[in-house]
Amino acid sequence: MAAGVLPRPVRRRLLCLGRDLVSLPGRLKPGARPVPWSSLHDVGGGEFHTVGRAILNSLVNEAGLTPDDHVLDIGCGTGRVAFALADYLTTKGCYTGFDVAPGGLAWMIRHLPPAAAPFRIVRADVFNTEYRQKTKTRAESYRFPVSDGSVDVAFATSVFTHLLPADAENYLAEIGRSLRPGGRAYVTAFLMTPERRGPAESGAAFVTFHPFGEVAHVGDLNVPEAMIAFDETVFMDWVAKAGLELVPPVKYGHWSGGGPKPGQEFQDVLVLRKTLHAAGAAPVMSVREQDRLGFDG
Ligand SMILES: C[S@@+](CC[C@H](N)C(=O)[O-])C[C@H]1O[C@@H](n2cnc3c(N)ncnc32)[C@H](O)[C@@H]1O
Repeated sequence: MAAGVLPRPVRRRLLCLGRDLVSLPGRLKPGARPVPWSSLHDVGGGEFHTVGRAILNSLVNEAGLTPDDHVLDIGCGTGRVAFALADYLTTKGCYTGFDVAPGGLAWMIRHLPPAAAPFRIVRADVFNTEYRQKTKTRAESYRFPVSDGSVDVAFATSVFTHLLPADAENYLAEIGRSLRPGGRAYVTAFLMTPERRGPAESGAAFVTFHPFGEVAHVGDLNVPEAMIAFDETVFMDWVAKAGLELVPPVKYGHWSGGGPKPGQEFQDVLVLRKTLHAAGAAPVMSVREQDRLGFDG
């Protein structure tokens, strides 16, 4: 049977198994840092800790993260960036990460190194065709496990590419609710523009996207959350509605072909800032205040 005919979950498993076999010698080296199996953490290329540190650098350089910040990791997976943050954050800082996939979270909790900052890891009981089917709760109504205005820097790497339109709109609104005025978010996505739309030229783009509803495009119509792109103008409308503004420019990734150019990421990267005077801006509650009030998400 040709690989393309196999159902997606089987194809995914086989691909992960192949990657895990290739990585086995490195995992068995004495002193090797723990790395999750691909079946738990399937995020494509790059070494787990190296990519985690690179994302941390981007958070510092592009989103202004400092060691004393409260940082929110949206869809933290197996904690690729949390490992780097464990070394980086001070006792004044704080980490909150949440995800829908319990297996990845369990691995993360088991392997995270000791950190000076408090780390809070939350399982979001939310449905996702690709990552969690054993619940009916939808991401479009999920409330992030943090208080209004309590987060300095939020980030979501390779998460909006797995959210349906209503989910993505809600997650942007939740970022807006969670950030303090002036706080920043670092978000990756596939942004569809007129130039990128249409059947991909052979070999140009890594995937052919199909129209999905009014505002989205998906790689697989049977599993839309496997890979989803949003019309850029609609995405930017959601950003504005959430009380956020773009810190220009959008750094377009090479997913649509023609790359990579030096330093170019695969997905599109956006840095967003919570506007200072958003209408109805939520009052700021510090993490310590949340702890005093016994807030536990
Ligand atoms: C490609 S992985 C990226 C993981 C992590 N952000 C990283 O860069 O290493 C996508 C992650 O999004 C999570 N996810 C999917 N839907 C979600 C949702 N509605 N809320 C939170 N996390 C979600 C998946 O469980 C998975 O861990």
